[in-house]
Amino acid sequence: IRRTKVADVLRQTEIGKEVNVKGWVRTRRGNKFVNFIALNDGSSIHNLQIVADVPKFDEELIKRITTGSAISVNGILSESAGSGQKVEIQAVSIEVIGDCNADEYPLQPKKHSLEFLREIAHLRFRTNTFGAITRIRHAMIFAVHNFFSQKGFYNIHTPIITASDAEGAGEMFRVTTLDVNNIPKNEEGAVDFSQDFFGKSTNLTVSGQLEGELAALAMSEIYTFGPTFRAENSNTTRHLAEFWMIEPEMAFYDLNDNMDLAEEFTKYLMNYALENCMEDLEFLSKRLQEEEKGKKAEDRSMELIEKLRFVVENDYVRLTYSEAIDILMNSKPQKKGKFQYPVNGFGSDLQAEHERFLVEKHFKKPVILTDYPMSIKAFYMKQSDDGKTVRAMDVLFPQIGEIIGGSQREESYDKLLERMRALHLPEKEMYWYLDTRRFGSVPHSGFGLGFERLMLFVTGMTNIRDVIPFPRSPKNAEF
Ligand code: 4AD
Ligand code: MG
Repeated sequence: IRRTKVADVLRQTEIGKEVNVKGWVRTRRGNKFVNFIALNDGSSIHNLQIVADVPKFDEELIKRITTGSAISVNGILSESAGSGQKVEIQAVSIEVIGDCNADEYPLQPKKHSLEFLREIAHLRFRTNTFGAITRIRHAMIFAVHNFFSQKGFYNIHTPIITASDAEGAGEMFRVTTLDVNNIPKNEEGAVDFSQDFFGKSTNLTVSGQLEGELAALAMSEIYTFGPTFRAENSNTTRHLAEFWMIEPEMAFYDLNDNMDLAEEFTKYLMNYALENCMEDLEFLSKRLQEEEKGKKAEDRSMELIEKLRFVVENDYVRLTYSEAIDILMNSKPQKKGKFQYPVNGFGSDLQAEHERFLVEKHFKKPVILTDYPMSIKAFYMKQSDDGKTVRAMDVLFPQIGEIIGGSQREESYDKLLERMRALHLPEKEMYWYLDTRRFGSVPHSGFGLGFERLMLFVTGMTNIRDVIPFPRSPKNAEF
């Protein structure tokens, strides 16, 4: 008989049918007459209960069925008397596929802290929490492609190795084949990248946007979904050195169209999770509530599923950066009475504490801030007539702060060139970007959604290292 996945067995109703299941043992308990084995194969948050009448089996075999071992079971689908499960398997034959030495296995049949699990990240997939996160992450990837495909957007693969710095922040990982012990220098003593693999200096991409614009200005509506890399030395719970970003780019969209799309898109993703991942969400929600038991009521977060529904059902608040600055200068965060970084007026860069104050305390809803000062935003953003602001938008979420950054793009060749010169960007090397504004330029817009920030919100997890399987952060590149 062919293997049936645990999730499918749990849905079955043909009592008396013989099935085969394979997976990893979570626990084995019982007495010398009967043993109950909880089996998981990653397909469900629920374990499948295997009932083994001990006298029917070899004693040595039973002993080898320990937490973490892999087994194959043939058995009869039976109604379960246990609570929380309709069916179980009455074992006919059991084979141990892979032994697991219980004394050496780091995972015990109990709740482990997330910190501990981060230390044994290679085994995290075997826990309920990371099983749930992995299934939700998959569902969200699928939903992203679904959303854009239904809207007629094309998925574009943009390069991972690039010669440009899209965001101009200089936070790049260099790519080189040069021998570190013998770096060629030019006459001025600078590294001579002409001898490197690509004949020039290259880096891992910080964003696929600039290449995405090339595609959008021919295909109308495109999106990228790729890994991006930032060497920002911020060891926070919201930053990774390697993260995944979804970047739609649309011709003939102004900033309002861009905001509408960002709101529709994020709501679609939340809704998709509510409709397709309910069992995993319920598990994570319970986990979170247990973790927050000790906290004061005002410090506890909203129940996870309630929070997702709330975001789906309510309009996001839209206001300008300047309006937000006014609010922030005239308010006091309840507890400390002041912000760690004071807001000094127009030109202040907003920190997570300010973003979260606006969302969590002031409006109590997701917020889209627009029209930021030109001085704190990237070169490609559309300049406003006031000469001070750009048509930028940041979408701010509770618990996260910035989840999306985007803008209408500067479509005027002259204005773009002027801005690039002011910022000393290499206009010759970026001829390909400028060409889009020379040949049939049109108003266009786009944004970037940080996929792991979205995952933080959907799962209610609080550390970004827990929503990506293999996190990369300063001093952390295991595997
Ligand atoms: O605001 P950012 O830097 O915008 C861009 O890269 C634009 N090129 C996007 C565009 O308009 N096409 O980054 C976009 C989003 C942020 O809002 C945040 O969600 C996420 O990417 N992000 C990070 N996520 C995890 N770790 C980091 N170090 C991140 N930096 C940005
Ligand atoms: Mg940003």
